[in-house]
Amino acid sequence: MAIEVAKDLFWVGVVDWSLRHFHGHELSTHRGSTYNCFLIKDEKTALVDTVWAPFAGQYIQQLKAAVDLARIDYIIVNHAEPDHSGALPELVRLCPNAQLICSTRGADSLAGLYHADWKLQTVKTGQRLPLGRRQLTFIEAPMLHWPDSMFTHLSDGILLPNDAFGQHYATAFRFNDQVDQEELHCEALKYYANILAPFSAQVLSKIDELLKLNLPVSMILPSHGVMWRQDPLQIVRKYQEWASQRPQKRATILYDTMWEGTRRMADVIGEGLADEQLPYKAYHTAVTDRNDVIADLLLTGAVIVGSPTQNRGLMPSVASVLEDLLRLGFKNKQAAAFGTYGWSGECVKLIEERLAACKFPLAAPGVRAKWMPTDQDLVACRELGRKLALAVQAG
Ligand code: FEO
Repeated sequence: MAIEVAKDLFWVGVVDWSLRHFHGHELSTHRGSTYNCFLIKDEKTALVDTVWAPFAGQYIQQLKAAVDLARIDYIIVNHAEPDHSGALPELVRLCPNAQLICSTRGADSLAGLYHADWKLQTVKTGQRLPLGRRQLTFIEAPMLHWPDSMFTHLSDGILLPNDAFGQHYATAFRFNDQVDQEELHCEALKYYANILAPFSAQVLSKIDELLKLNLPVSMILPSHGVMWRQDPLQIVRKYQEWASQRPQKRATILYDTMWEGTRRMADVIGEGLADEQLPYKAYHTAVTDRNDVIADLLLTGAVIVGSPTQNRGLMPSVASVLEDLLRLGFKNKQAAAFGTYGWSGECVKLIEERLAACKFPLAAPGVRAKWMPTDQDLVACRELGRKLALAVQAG
């Protein structure tokens, strides 16, 4: 059902309670998601964004109840990714008088995704579209989080930034002040860490650009999750904090284990961290949700990674999280490696190579134990934990 968010501005989105994975299976979404889109009724009628194709029928029924589709003058595509453009093929057929509007890169993406002969009007930053009482201003936002991404700003201070500032979070309510604040924080952080973190430099410069434009911001209505109406700039301040990747004084241990030897080492490294009063969390990567671990890693001050040597390599779950650290561009972490081996024993060397590729300085020499760790190996693990704690505290 359409919900009036502000006078003559309606949320016409869909709540997807059952979504458990996004981007194929790349991202876990334990709490579902929403696809938020907006109808603006004025002298001209504009629709901003659509929904993922499986929800196109529901979306269009809801839209028909809110407006005569023949009266839609503009369909604005802030971002072409299929979770926002999936209903376009059907919608374009049903809205004969609507002009499609997107960024130049959006036109490329839509052409590649739909191979359709749509007439698109492309817009650039600062371009305006008067609707009557309201005027829209477009702001290109490349790499937040695709090259085509664009924000639409309404002259009464409402920002529609599409994916930026969103969360994969289905709830009974639509606004940030109506939901559990801890859940909201967790989902917004997980979304940032897994989706936007590689573009942190662009996030910081886009926020600077927006602040310099001095546009009023009374609400921020992202395309996923709840909308920010109470202190809407709180999420902008959080993005500035997360994008700066200033490390917190805490550590994260990541490990996989075959016969509990590497786990024993992880436990004792944790004891070393605790000896120096440094908070930490330990994750067995094979049994922990990868995206939840990534959320924890974004701001941790130290990452301590352990794996047995398996077939001259690392256990797959550890190799995968090391790849994530690199491709997500995480920064500013002290690091160390540990692991067990039976014969060839490359684990520590391989982990250290990957940590070096991430540009994480090694705060302590790695610890390698043959078969099960001996008392002496465990003393070295405890020492490794203490050294990492001191390095984080000194940082
Ligand atoms: Fe929500 Fe980039 O799609």
